[in-house]
Amino acid sequence: MEKLIGLKKVKTAVFISGTGSNLRNLIKFAKIKMSPISVDLIISNTCKAKGLRFADEFKIKKKIFDLRNNEKNILSLLKKEKIKLICLAGFMKILSNDFIKKFDGKIINIHPSLLPKYKGLNTHSRAINNKDKFTGCSVHYVTARLDSGKVILKSIIKILAKDTATTLAKKVLIQEHKLYPAAIMKIFN
Ligand code: GRF
Repeated sequence: MEKLIGLKKVKTAVFISGTGSNLRNLIKFAKIKMSPISVDLIISNTCKAKGLRFADEFKIKKKIFDLRNNEKNILSLLKKEKIKLICLAGFMKILSNDFIKKFDGKIINIHPSLLPKYKGLNTHSRAINNKDKFTGCSVHYVTARLDSGKVILKSIIKILAKDTATTLAKKVLIQEHKLYPAAIMKIFN
């Protein structure tokens, strides 16, 4: 990722589908002076995403797109808003290869496992069923292959005997909120 020039923050769009706790966390992070990014656009593939409320709360432009047919429209909006970085945060749709190519090296995602382990869904129950001793989360570049792009940073937590998929999800989410900003700092340094 190119270096930051002067004090200009990199215009960023966050893509969500659900609760948006990572979105909220990134908005808060972007407001810190030393943050290399500003969150200028929120995109959701569904109007049901609870995280959309943060667009109103923080007065950030939001757009709901029903993806597949609409990638062209998303791309023109991103261009219009001069977006240079896309952060996927609980975004449950798969972007087309064409879209990813157009934003090559500028889309990152947070995934609730220690990649390359457990790409895809239900990561916490898979870790528990396999009797893993550790789990965590990873921030990685998005490529055409699901959850397979180069990892930027990972955070590890211990799995306790009493952990369930629900308790793990909560613990990992706390780590995610630390990891995403740290990964963004890393790519701009
Ligand atoms: C996070 O665990 C993220 O890693 C996963 O979906 C969850 C989204 O949480 N892909 P939130 O919407 O950011 O609260």
